[in-house]
Amino acid sequence: MQLKDRIALVTGGAQGIGESVARAFVREGAQVAIVDRDGDAAERAAATIVASGGAAIGIGCDVADREQVQAAVARIGAHWGGIDILVNNAGITRTAMLDRMTPDAWQQVLAVHLTGSFNCLQAVAEGMIARRYGRIIFVTSAAGVLGTIGQINYSAAKAGVLGMAKSAARELARHNITANAIAPGAATQMTETIRTDERFKDKYLDRIPLGRWADADEIAPVFVFFASDASAYVTGQVLAADGGMTIY
Ligand SMILES: NC(=O)c1ccc[n+]([C@@H]2O[C@H](COP(=O)([O-])OP(=O)(O)OC[C@H]3O[C@@H](n4cnc5c(N)ncnc54)[C@H](O)[C@@H]3O)[C@@H](O)[C@H]2O)c1
Repeated sequence: MQLKDRIALVTGGAQGIGESVARAFVREGAQVAIVDRDGDAAERAAATIVASGGAAIGIGCDVADREQVQAAVARIGAHWGGIDILVNNAGITRTAMLDRMTPDAWQQVLAVHLTGSFNCLQAVAEGMIARRYGRIIFVTSAAGVLGTIGQINYSAAKAGVLGMAKSAARELARHNITANAIAPGAATQMTETIRTDERFKDKYLDRIPLGRWADADEIAPVFVFFASDASAYVTGQVLAADGGMTIY
């Protein structure tokens, strides 16, 4: 087991990629706190893991709210002790072409992806520094690397997440803390429109060399790699699990 007795915090872990990651971590021996804005769904996801013999707790928390994040981290600390692994996965989209992108849609997306990732990073860093151990995983996207149409807010946020991951890697390396980013391919309901709408489907699929959509469960092992000691000498990197879409 690659994550035996490690304590992980997975934001946005109530569904989608985050839930797959939480389950994969538990299979590798970790105890996982599922932190999600939808507290009921977080508790349900945790209960499913516990019912199958794993260790998990679900916590309702909006990552964009600094106090809620600090309270969640304190609760995990009281429950299990310090956090070894942070996965900054919570995310939203508010899609619109530039001329119709409202300031509110811009702010909401930046608040969750950028401010939310920063809030969680800062909340766990102190404990990781004190214990001289940490694995931080950010979630970016092809949109943050290549740009995309109709998601200028999301692309800007995901590009910002990359900068945050690289700076965190440089700043925290001296404390034996790694920080890396994963760019998942289109997998879950967040990308349902491009995967199912006849107007986009084939055009998008043509850009994926492996020629198929991702399954969240085949992206989760990449998170296990960055969360484990297999990646002890890897930091500040971006790994795209996207079927080759961002080969460049
Ligand atoms: N699905 C894809 O194809 C894809 C592709 C590239 C990147 N991503 C990224 O992967 C991550 C997970 O995406 P997904 O497809 O699993 O999304 P999803 O919509 O299925 O799940 C996102 C989860 O985040 C939670 N969440 C949203 N806002 C939150 C907040 N403020 N605080 C706490 N929790 C919050 C939601 O409640 C939900 O449980 C996101 O960062 C997304 O941008 C997804």
